[in-house]
Amino acid sequence: MERKPYLDWIVYQIYPRSFCDANGDGVGDLNGITQKLDYLKELGVNAVWLSPCYKSPNCDNGYDISDYRDIMDEFGTLDDWKRMIGEMHARGIKLIMDFVANHTSSEHKWFKEARSSRDNPYHDYYIWRDSVPNDWQSCFLGSAWEYNRPTGEYYLHSFAIGQPDLNWENPKVREEMRAVVDYWADLGVDGFRCDVLDYIAKDFENGLMNNGPKIHEYIKELFGRDKVKRLFTVGECSMGEDKIADFCGANRDELKCIFQFDHIGLGRTGDKFERAERDIDGLRNTLVKWQYFTERNNLLYTLFTDNHDQAHFISRGGDDGEKRYETATMYAAMFYLLKGTPFLYQGIEFGTPDPHYDALSDFNDVETYNYYDAYQGKLKKEELLARINFGSRDNVRRPLCWDNSKNYGFSSADKTWIALHSRGAEVNLAQDRNNTKSVFEFYKRLLALRSGSDAAKYGVFEDRTQGNGYFAYTRTYQGEQLLVVYNFEQEKEITGLPDCEYVLGNALPRRANGRYGAFETAVFRKR
Ligand code: NOJ
Repeated sequence: MERKPYLDWIVYQIYPRSFCDANGDGVGDLNGITQKLDYLKELGVNAVWLSPCYKSPNCDNGYDISDYRDIMDEFGTLDDWKRMIGEMHARGIKLIMDFVANHTSSEHKWFKEARSSRDNPYHDYYIWRDSVPNDWQSCFLGSAWEYNRPTGEYYLHSFAIGQPDLNWENPKVREEMRAVVDYWADLGVDGFRCDVLDYIAKDFENGLMNNGPKIHEYIKELFGRDKVKRLFTVGECSMGEDKIADFCGANRDELKCIFQFDHIGLGRTGDKFERAERDIDGLRNTLVKWQYFTERNNLLYTLFTDNHDQAHFISRGGDDGEKRYETATMYAAMFYLLKGTPFLYQGIEFGTPDPHYDALSDFNDVETYNYYDAYQGKLKKEELLARINFGSRDNVRRPLCWDNSKNYGFSSADKTWIALHSRGAEVNLAQDRNNTKSVFEFYKRLLALRSGSDAAKYGVFEDRTQGNGYFAYTRTYQGEQLLVVYNFEQEKEITGLPDCEYVLGNALPRRANGRYGAFETAVFRKR
């Protein structure tokens, strides 16, 4: 059986603005990350995905880049970055940088030049039309076309107005972006998380903003080169079963894996701001489908519940009040013992839930404000605020709560860049570690179990569920078998499972077959 590389990686995502502020200006920074590396080591991760830290005017918190080769002033300097990666590598932690290839900031010098006149050599770096050619909507709502007075044209922005789309049809753009990849590769990075990568290829003929006919040519040209083939690459381009292998199938020389988002819609409608009844059995069925599919097709799956764009999974997929410990640990075990590469988002390791605010001014995110503008007047104010509290990306972007000191240990500043987490006094790392039911301690044991078990890393997945309301599966590798059981909301008697030795759980030690309470989980092993 093939042992895939990357199944032994455990990636921790850092949103630098909100992780740790070392210089006391109210904004997280690179030196803050360096200070916390021993903590990450203790947790048991061995790679970091760093959300963008490049120069940016921050219309979308760094996803609008104005210089691909330098660090945002608020986050520090290139020397700070070099020290950070050195300290990471010294601890056996790899670094995956965010790579935003679809668009730049409107403050990038290429765009400033491009928008100045139709004859400017940079004009063709972007996508222009004399009049609005179609009804394409920006992913952040509103028309995707914006007027540019100096040239009398419209430019395309699939995201915010301040994020003009690059024209990948132009070979010079592709060359520039290869040079950016090489620049960071030469500085020693271990991989890239590729922001909305499928958007770099448009399909104007068929009216599609992403995944156009040239997508594979572009990705191969970028990452299929010998110089960078060693890098881990994960694309943010959710694809169905019919297309995923074209992006990350073995020997395609494109990506190592992509984030597949099928399971993320749990508990909300197609509109991410609107709550829906949660369907945990549906979640299980989705995970089972993808486990079998990726195994059959020799693909690497990514295991995640949270990232910087989604409200916390435990807040919509379970009980983030009385049963927060059980919910957080159940999802941790459920996801991170599956086959694939685990990604943990900062704060998940101590069960951070969504906060709540009564005023719009406590929010910051461009997507949130665009949503508010689009629905203002159409929905009652309270309903709109409830939706924003439910779906805003700011749910996961609050300063991380380390302890009970000023600003929950995030910063010594008088004011942080965004309002603190409304539940920070109750849910913070120090507090959690003092609890007998500590989410962090559970995570540590879970990640140690994963790292130390070939079955957890490489084992064949088999669904053992018989019925609804729970999920049981085995992972088997050579003589070792893990059995993992998750019960959902209703107390239940589970039977028909192989009997084996208890190794980890969030309730009392037990036998595999027996009575399980709400959100209880247990892991067993047979050798
Ligand atoms: C996806 C990123 O994850 C998100 O945070 C960002 O706003 C958009 N791409 C635009 O870059």
